[in-house]
Amino acid sequence: MELTPINSKIGVEVGGVQLAKLEGDSLAALKQAVYEHGVAVLRDQQLSPEDHIALGHRWGGIDVNNYFPLDGEYAEIAIVRKKADQETNIGGGWHTDHSYDQIPAMGSILVARTLPPKGGDTLFAHMGAAYDSLSAELKAKVATLRAFHTADHIYSPDGAYAQTDQGTELRGQELKTGATHPVVISHPRTGRKLLYVNPAFTVHFEGMTREESLPLLQELYAAAMSEDIQCRVEWRESTVAIWDNRSTWHFALNDYHGYAREMHRITLSGEALAA
Ligand code: SIN
Repeated sequence: MELTPINSKIGVEVGGVQLAKLEGDSLAALKQAVYEHGVAVLRDQQLSPEDHIALGHRWGGIDVNNYFPLDGEYAEIAIVRKKADQETNIGGGWHTDHSYDQIPAMGSILVARTLPPKGGDTLFAHMGAAYDSLSAELKAKVATLRAFHTADHIYSPDGAYAQTDQGTELRGQELKTGATHPVVISHPRTGRKLLYVNPAFTVHFEGMTREESLPLLQELYAAAMSEDIQCRVEWRESTVAIWDNRSTWHFALNDYHGYAREMHRITLSGEALAA
């Protein structure tokens, strides 16, 4: 397996492996690379939907997403789709998948199925690097804080997507979500400290209102949005990205109007988070 870091803060290009056949020590090495670099990019993968599902199970299990349309044939595969005549994309803002769950998904395996001729890249940011960049004063301020996360304002019948042309395709509008997590978590496998709040799903700090929470949230988000701790994944045919939701945020760019983009996503089961 060849590992080539994308930059010193985040991302690794992985060569010399076919995910469809990956198991044992090689799978363990890929997991470790994802834990350390946040996101792994693998090119030229021959990964059928069956292979995608089998990889999710070999990795440690699948958390089926409650909102995205599912592939009719394969219930474990969530479709991240923008049709040529749609304006809005899915994931077009900084977020981390499933932070609104009590035990958030460990990560995601995203496979490019239909790509626009150009555009549609995905940005990733490393929350370990974001935490490292905070001042000592800010680190002390957030050390024991907890924050409430939910998806209700995004997916409910009067939520953000309902106002857009993605509204009719999404499922789960009736669901209620909510979880409180430490603002600074330790990565369950590496122990690295990570900033665990995100602009899409984190609503307020425990014991504070949204209005009281916003100034500090915005200060933390400013650190996390620094371009120094980001990488950009340019999708090509047969590209797969695997990321760690505990240690990264991502942002699907919506700069390809008039063209379709379709990705297949499997969300990997996670483990309890702790400070
Ligand atoms: C997502 O938010 O999981 C989708 C990312 C993408 O489509 O690039």
